Amino acid sequence: MCQRPGMSAIIAPTEYPLPELKASLDDNPWMATLRERPPLSQRQAELKEKRVQVEQFHRSTVPGLTELDPVTFSRGMLMCGLRLFLKCLGIYERGRRNALDLQLNEVEVFWPHLPTGLEGLRILHLSDLHLSRRFPAFAEKAGRLLQGLAVDVCVMTGDYRWGYYGPIDHVPPQIHTLLDGVRSRFGTVAVLGNHDTFEMAETLEEAGIPVLFNEGIALPFRDATLWLCGIDDPHVYGCDSIETALEDSPENSWKVLLAHTPESIPEAAEAGISFYLCGHTHGGQIRLPLIGAPSSNARCSRDQVLGRWQYGDMMGHTSPGLGTTDLPVRYGCPPEATVLTLRRGREKIVSP
Ligand SMILES: [Fe+2]
Repeated sequence: MCQRPGMSAIIAPTEYPLPELKASLDDNPWMATLRERPPLSQRQAELKEKRVQVEQFHRSTVPGLTELDPVTFSRGMLMCGLRLFLKCLGIYERGRRNALDLQLNEVEVFWPHLPTGLEGLRILHLSDLHLSRRFPAFAEKAGRLLQGLAVDVCVMTGDYRWGYYGPIDHVPPQIHTLLDGVRSRFGTVAVLGNHDTFEMAETLEEAGIPVLFNEGIALPFRDATLWLCGIDDPHVYGCDSIETALEDSPENSWKVLLAHTPESIPEAAEAGISFYLCGHTHGGQIRLPLIGAPSSNARCSRDQVLGRWQYGDMMGHTSPGLGTTDLPVRYGCPPEATVLTLRRGREKIVSP
């Protein structure tokens, strides 16, 4: 990678020509190249078969289930008990209001050896949208939050539906509503979460939203190349492969991995990933003072449940997500869309 002597912290965007900012999902020439790929069921024919088998093993096949049905009977009972408990404490309605208090957060992430061409690159990280057929106003509210935002690329790290069952045709139009006011130089890509069946991936792609299913794409930024890749959900299905996602990566490319959960962190670091973006935990969704999240629903360390973290030389960001699931409440963990800005250097620690 070419290093420029005397490089300051920020390269003026005009120094290197970049594609113009376009709408995040429409009229984006780079998105068109992704849309020209063969359909996912052809690209991943073998994995589709395995994925669908695992989905059938983990999910009830009783017909007529809706997005309101819990994934298992025991989980449904647990949530009924928790709802009753929160109502008895008189804080249930506050939790509902918290869950709709959508935030847009700007975060800088530092690498001492970030390629200079990637300095200042802005990634919009959305996760766990959990869009409900019954509540389209949520996507409209999120759309107002993101209105006017300009980024280099938008990524979505899984869990697009509210629950586990029922039709999903409401998801693509709600995502379009949500991203309507966002301009993204290289468009938007998605990976699947544990709520998302293979059908979700096909539905998203049919609606013009490309999915990275153990795949990647090279993004040219000035004199650097970013390999943006994504894997299938590592939490449930056992179809994820970082090795496959890196197969076509150009030599010396700087690698960003999208995964639904933080559960592939050691493998990603071993594989040479520089930036790992995930969600799934909802930051705990319910966080207690001093203790933090009583449950993260993920096999990861406590510091990997929410926000920025570091693992060896790899940096990471676990999004708290914009939506909620199981119970529509949040405490101590606001729903968030995050703009991550890449910085070359070391983080400046400001003394109190
Ligand atoms: Fe989720």
